[in-house]
Amino acid sequence: MPPRKIIIDTDPGQDDAVAILLALASPEELEVLAITAVAGNVPLDKTSRNARVICELAGKPDVPVHEGCDRPMERVLVTAEHVHGASGLDGIELPEPTMPVADLHAVEAIIHHVRREPRGSVTLCPLGPLTNVATALTRAPDIAERLAGIALMGGAYFEVGNVTPAAEFNIYVDPEAADIVMKSGVDITILPLDVTHKALITRDWLDRIEALGTPVSKVVCAWLDFYERFDVEKYGGAGGPLHDPCVIAWLLRPELFSGRRINVEIECQSDLTRGMTVADWWGVTDRAANALFIGDIDADGFFDLLAERVARL
Ligand code: RIB
Ligand code: CA
Repeated sequence: MPPRKIIIDTDPGQDDAVAILLALASPEELEVLAITAVAGNVPLDKTSRNARVICELAGKPDVPVHEGCDRPMERVLVTAEHVHGASGLDGIELPEPTMPVADLHAVEAIIHHVRREPRGSVTLCPLGPLTNVATALTRAPDIAERLAGIALMGGAYFEVGNVTPAAEFNIYVDPEAADIVMKSGVDITILPLDVTHKALITRDWLDRIEALGTPVSKVVCAWLDFYERFDVEKYGGAGGPLHDPCVIAWLLRPELFSGRRINVEIECQSDLTRGMTVADWWGVTDRAANALFIGDIDADGFFDLLAERVARL
């Protein structure tokens, strides 16, 4: 079976970085057509730089990295340096990337690839705010029926919010973009906090990664040591949640996950609940199902997969 063609839309972020490494370490299953940077965890200039740092760390400087939207569609950008550090990839100093930013704007790159590749062959993998993806769907509505699907990290229901009591960060930053995506008619899989909060980093697993003794494993440990401190302090004890790698792991091993096809709508009006993913998990409305909402994970299987793939780089 040929590899699945994907475009990773991202706001690195240490967890985005591990997701990108997982994808680049899986060429038999995934062909990364492009990486598109969006403003989110840190401003666009840093997410673009970080995406290129990650590609070079993985030994893949040929993967095109495009710069996209530097702010949400209608709102002021909210960033998360308190989680990821000022650079967005705090934890270890890495050299500035030498690979260039790809020519096309990220939105045009998404449109270009989806129109050029065979119908139903490209999956978009947003790991940050949905600004680039929603802008592409708005500018080129024809791409919606050409996409194989969208597998995104975002939202929360039973797990409630991480940036407000009601909203998860990626959706909170650009709720209008998320609303456009949820109403696009594309086959959508959502990996919300409900599942990513079950993918908690453990000391044993970090020790296992460190024991690989490779340059990549050293960087991954340094990133995650820094990254998880915020969540460990916030949630107490267990370990930081590895949000974004869940998207790529779902593509690689969907059997590690379970969920339910339900209706999900986005709150865009209320200041109190802006960015809430209103997930009809119990089917109490007659609103049509528009997403596979993932709620559970085989965490051991997930971390085994991640360790095996990081070891390849
Ligand atoms: O809420 C978690 C999400 O927000 C992750 O994608 C993280 O990288 C940040 O973008
Ligand atoms: Ca992210």
